[in-house]
Amino acid sequence: MATMGSLIGLVNKIQRACTVLGDHGGNDGFSLPTLWEALPSVAVVGGQSSGKSSVLESIVGRDFLPRGSGIVTRRPLVLQLHKTEDGQQDYAEFLHLPRRKFSDFALVRKEIQDETDRITGKTKQISPVPIQLSIYSPNVVNLTLIDLPGLTKVAVEGQPESIVQEIESMVRSYVEKPNCIILAISPANQDIATSDAIKLAREVDPTGDRTFGVMTKLDLMDKGTNALDVLEGRAYKLQHPWVGIVNRSQADINRNVDMIVARRKEREYFDNSPDYSHLASKMGSEYLAKLLSKHLEAVIRARIPSITSLINKTIDELESEMDHLGRPIAVDAGAQLYTILELCRAFDKIFKEHLDGGRPGGDR
Ligand code: GDP
Ligand code: NA
Ligand code: MG
Repeated sequence: MATMGSLIGLVNKIQRACTVLGDHGGNDGFSLPTLWEALPSVAVVGGQSSGKSSVLESIVGRDFLPRGSGIVTRRPLVLQLHKTEDGQQDYAEFLHLPRRKFSDFALVRKEIQDETDRITGKTKQISPVPIQLSIYSPNVVNLTLIDLPGLTKVAVEGQPESIVQEIESMVRSYVEKPNCIILAISPANQDIATSDAIKLAREVDPTGDRTFGVMTKLDLMDKGTNALDVLEGRAYKLQHPWVGIVNRSQADINRNVDMIVARRKEREYFDNSPDYSHLASKMGSEYLAKLLSKHLEAVIRARIPSITSLINKTIDELESEMDHLGRPIAVDAGAQLYTILELCRAFDKIFKEHLDGGRPGGDR
């Protein structure tokens, strides 16, 4: 019996294959983009330097994203996590460098920076063209995460005034999709009432079904204050409970404190905090990763019927597309079509097993 984890893994693979194919273009009249959008993913939203990239790194448990002050993330980064067998080495792969495996994550960071500059120039321009990265590791949960440029209120020197609006439109184009799960990041050392993340999340997801509030920088609050009003759901009640996070500080990063140590320190912070120890089991990056994975499972489970029919439609279209392979289509694209077709079939099969396995007790 297939596990839910393998189902999310398949969702990841289909999303990836669809993107490759999308890159080759030339397949109009095709519902692959629809399929991609029907499959859930998780996007981080928040103001500049609120800790978005840090939260993603903590979820992944690896150190690989450009980080720091100012507008560092200037293109969307679509990050697919693939869980591998225990004992396997971690590695990363970019869609734009298909045959190169990165095992040095410092080089992954450099490639993200270089690839950002390739499109935007070395200016502080932004681009909506996503960078696609896959990470393979025994220590991740199967998830698709999207890192986005930070929302901002003013352009910095060298940026056109229009950048404020451009960033907002770009972020909005991701989070307004009904299948996008929103990680709304708000730093604890700023007034929650001014949180750009919460403001945008409320606009695109008024019921809060798909918004997770994440409060970073708890360690940076003024002495004698705490974030219990938010974390306990009194200040800004969301459908899902808030998760508090302590990421690495800039000093930690400068001292190269590694992720494992950082996770342990975060855990100790919550366990030993007089303010938060009663919430400790529901705080921290590891808990957030598990929460998201569980939520994703529930979403996929609920959408099995509609995704199945979309998959079947895609299979039909792919089959007729394969029949017409005589007409001009890149060789690579042909191979990709075939891959997607195979993945869709596997998907369909697992869906059916899940539906059968779900009876008669019924899936929760
Ligand atoms: P982004 O711009 O939203 O992606 O934010 P980054 O993840 O790049 O973080 C911006 C800065 O804030 C970095 O110097 C981080 O080290 C720091 N930072 C992020 N989260 C925390 C936190 O929870 N605690 C502390 N002390 N610093 C943090
Ligand atoms: Na930043
Ligand atoms: Mg960032």
